[in-house]
Amino acid sequence: MRKNNGDHSDRNGQDEPDLPNDYARRRFMQMIGAGASLAAFGGASGTLHAANSIGFWRRTSNAFVLDPRKTFMNIGTAGSMPRAVLQFFDKANKEQARDSLNGYGNFASLRSRIAPGFGVDPDELVVSYNTSDGMCHAILGIPWQPGDCVITTNHEHPGGNVPLQIAVDRYGIAVRRVLLPTGNNQSPEDYVALFEEAIANAQAEGLNVRAMMWSSPTFVTGTMLPIRRLVDVAIQHGLISICDGAHLPGMMAYDYAQLGVDFMAGAGHKWQCGPGSTGILIIRNKVRDEYNPLPLPAYFPVVTSSYSPTIGGVPWTNRATGPVATFDIAAVIQSCGSKHSPMLNALGEACDMWDEIGRSTIQDYVLGLANELKRQIISRWGEAALYSPDHPELASALTSFNPFFHDPELIKNSTAVGEFVSRLNNEYDIIIRNTRTPVRTSPTTTEDVFPLRVSTHLWHDMRDVDRLVDACWDLATRISQGA
Ligand SMILES: Cc1ncc(COP(=O)(O)O)c(C=O)c1O
Repeated sequence: MRKNNGDHSDRNGQDEPDLPNDYARRRFMQMIGAGASLAAFGGASGTLHAANSIGFWRRTSNAFVLDPRKTFMNIGTAGSMPRAVLQFFDKANKEQARDSLNGYGNFASLRSRIAPGFGVDPDELVVSYNTSDGMCHAILGIPWQPGDCVITTNHEHPGGNVPLQIAVDRYGIAVRRVLLPTGNNQSPEDYVALFEEAIANAQAEGLNVRAMMWSSPTFVTGTMLPIRRLVDVAIQHGLISICDGAHLPGMMAYDYAQLGVDFMAGAGHKWQCGPGSTGILIIRNKVRDEYNPLPLPAYFPVVTSSYSPTIGGVPWTNRATGPVATFDIAAVIQSCGSKHSPMLNALGEACDMWDEIGRSTIQDYVLGLANELKRQIISRWGEAALYSPDHPELASALTSFNPFFHDPELIKNSTAVGEFVSRLNNEYDIIIRNTRTPVRTSPTTTEDVFPLRVSTHLWHDMRDVDRLVDACWDLATRISQGA
């Protein structure tokens, strides 16, 4: 194992901590029998095959260390490291301590290893600490001017809202919010129209609209705002595009170069099942005309120990104007003092597994389960109970719904919903959560409801979906009877 020399001046990443061997990853792939068993999931019918394959991950239960007495369906809050990632992490931690290693460097080889899985080059990917960290990097690195305006939505998470508020207070920017639709009667075009309208309204107010910021999917209803379409809106108006993609890494097989978004901040510790305190931050660092011909936005890193006015002789402000990067922006953001390299490299292990299984296979599988869940919700509770759309372009593996068939108004009562979530855990051993969701009551007003939110992931199969639906129905029935 190569040791660090502690010199973190090399922005080309020659000085980063090395990795323990890939034993654990190979073990994982052996354990799940990747290859033979996964071949069955490939192809255009992957969703159907994968979601119908009872016990795909049950057969491989050894891959995760989840408590078998519980069914964990809140990946939207926290994932779970596979056993092999834990083994890697443990081994790397011990090596770190034994050899008194440091975590200086820009993790170039780690970034090179995982960037292709996200469709970008290593200079466009930072292993961040989490989504919130990535959103702070993105939003607070932009040199805002008073009167600038960001168009966002009313379904954003504090991870994005908080840095936005700092920019309001510190730089005098304005924020205007689109009121998002909920339920199963919506189309991707609706989102384009809503953002277009909000941009026009802000401009009519005299504001200098500079950016769009949105979540794909939203944490409240799991609605996948259509990234490519919204980037097209941004391009049309010359705007910076910032996507809170907390749930994207590990759930969706997106190619971020093709999506053309300027910034995407996601979690490594949710669907990607890396350690806590890991995230994926994508920063557009070259101009690919076919995907986003806009100039790269002006940007200054806010948390780094390797910034200098020129990078390899190139002034920091000389960002690329074509398909070749002028400097490695991700390296500068990545390199910030001594980091916990076992943790970042353990995320790399999780990413390797996902890449080997196939990110599209995983996407098909988790969306297939969510699709089945939505189908069952509609058939038991009726379409009005569903807050997440099942339109293929708007769907994610987060599903949100109202379980109270006898008294749908109870969904407005946060205490009643909170008790439902606790009872589902205590009496049925199923872990989910609920969210505060503003629902549009008119084009300009909303009312809060508190639907359940269910995450379907790799360690679930159809039986878990059936069990969840039966449990929710049973509990709602008992509540209706006063039990
Ligand atoms: C949409 C969204 N953004 C940001 C966050 C914050 O995520 P993190 O803990 O990775 O910072 C979450 C967490 O659930 C989220 O759902």
